[in-house]
Amino acid sequence: MCGIVGYVGSKSALDILLEGLTNLEYRGYDSAGIAVNVEGKVELYKAEGKLQNLKNITTAKKEHIEKSTIGIGHIRWATHGAPNTVNAHPHSCNCGRVAVVHNGIIENYKELRVKLEKDGCVFKSQTDTETVAHLVAKKYAQTKDLTEAVRLATKEIEGAYALAVIHQDVKNTIVATRRNAPLLVGIGENEYYVASDVPAIIKYTKNAMYLDDNQIVTLTPSSMKLIDIDGNSISQKIETLPWEPVALSKMGYKHFMLKEIHEQPDVVRNVLSGKLRAIDEKVILNEVTLNRESLKNLNRIQIVACGTSLHAAMVGKYIIEELCDIPVDVEPSSEYIYRKTVGDKNTLVIGVSQSGETADTITAVRQAKSRGSHILIVTNRPDSTMAREADSLVPVNAGIEVSVAATKSYMAQVISFYLLAIYIAEIKDSASKSILEKIKRELIILPQKLEKVLSHKDDVQICARKFANSKDFIFIARGINFPTALEGALKLKEISYINATGYTAGELKHGPIAMLDESMPVLAILMKGKVYDKILSNAEEAKARNARMIALTDSEDVKLDDLFESIIRVPEVDETLSPALAIVPLQLLAYYIAEFLGKDVDQPRNLAKSVTVE
Ligand code: F6R
Repeated sequence: MCGIVGYVGSKSALDILLEGLTNLEYRGYDSAGIAVNVEGKVELYKAEGKLQNLKNITTAKKEHIEKSTIGIGHIRWATHGAPNTVNAHPHSCNCGRVAVVHNGIIENYKELRVKLEKDGCVFKSQTDTETVAHLVAKKYAQTKDLTEAVRLATKEIEGAYALAVIHQDVKNTIVATRRNAPLLVGIGENEYYVASDVPAIIKYTKNAMYLDDNQIVTLTPSSMKLIDIDGNSISQKIETLPWEPVALSKMGYKHFMLKEIHEQPDVVRNVLSGKLRAIDEKVILNEVTLNRESLKNLNRIQIVACGTSLHAAMVGKYIIEELCDIPVDVEPSSEYIYRKTVGDKNTLVIGVSQSGETADTITAVRQAKSRGSHILIVTNRPDSTMAREADSLVPVNAGIEVSVAATKSYMAQVISFYLLAIYIAEIKDSASKSILEKIKRELIILPQKLEKVLSHKDDVQICARKFANSKDFIFIARGINFPTALEGALKLKEISYINATGYTAGELKHGPIAMLDESMPVLAILMKGKVYDKILSNAEEAKARNARMIALTDSEDVKLDDLFESIIRVPEVDETLSPALAIVPLQLLAYYIAEFLGKDVDQPRNLAKSVTVE
């Protein structure tokens, strides 16, 4: 949710800032802007909408702007103030000497603004961020020290922020700080980078330092100084970033989403690697630090997550309850944090998040932690804020996910839940050896089955074309594939903007059936197992109301041809594992419909990949 980038060194800053913003565009695309210092003067360039608009502006003045060897940049997901050029970052003060980029929300900006206006500050935008620019300018006027000005400003601001600041009078210096928003410094040779996330800088350096809350870093081409909010010097922890620049390439696919869908067989292999070695060996999950006794004593599990991660958590609930005999509650983090939740040290709380930066989920796990529960985090970003809250950290190793619509991270989360459930069941002895071995066998052969599904993607594409002009879409399923129906519907609505809803098939007749007519597609997830016949009956009921029926099934039954207008077939799979297989054609269906409709698949409107505001 908003991304910031900065560079100070001896190279021209322009291309580095634009490249960094390109790789942060998944965080927002309402507007973009940069601030540079050309021949001793701070200049701002901003544009509403996609980054390309900013690129067009800066290209026209490239020769001039590229003289600057320092700069900060921003990509916006609007929170305060409309997504227009005036509200685009960087923001500045009355005299235009300060430039600030910000990710987060300044919660007390209204009070600050009133005070600053009384002092003569003239606000141009409706943003919360502009208060920071005026505040820093005021503190700089008092101290003549940019680091001190930023430090004093952060003592007055409340809320969440990652900030990067430059000042016209302080040559070749960026001051950056954070509280409850991600920020890291990339370390080059006589140059430094600052960014909200690794993709912005990985092309230039693998050496980095993550800032902790309330730390302030001052960067010049030849120095990096780190202090805490009280001005004390603190030691720097330099790390080697685990990512490779190639992760940011589309590798010949038209969109990142399509590439990431195709990566799923390998993602499953990665998640299983070293954890599930053979059918007759126990699952190894050293990341779980709860001892055997505590695991046996668990009396409940609460899982908190948002969006796609919430759907993975729902699959997790089915598997854990099935195999471990422990009651599991799954709740959107944004609900969990606003009510009294009951739990104690025998409650395991699992936070699930691709980014590890989702504000609601961070708050939820912190709340549970303060109550004494063990916190297990399932995330694709072991370097994230949420990961730092973990008592047990289970990284899902899906690799960097660029497309805003999550696909491979969902797969990795679901597979991680199978491993976790088997791990607990083996310790608790709560499931039979034969059942566990059956699931392990299916997990091991899952990548081949996924490859088969992907090799039949043309069938999905044909189906997508047939239904692409539908206004609405209904997905029905039962049991362990109900989350698959929700996730299939979410994928479709977020990238194609078609109104799609997932229902438990049994609920259809309690209301939603009233919506059915010849214009309504109903996609039934019809995987063999306990609920197959029931869903088939529900599909018959929908067909009797003239709905356009689509089946996603692992059944070869030819009778289905009479009932369904389109059938997407996947290889036969054990019911318990079916969510991991069934989701892939639904991701492809959403992708091909959106692509057919000409939508911006990787950057759907109004969304951002990392939702760092509550
Ligand atoms: C949908 C999607 C979102 C995220 C949600 C939580 O494709 O990506 O629904 O799943 O915003 O994000 P994380 O998993 O980063 O906590």
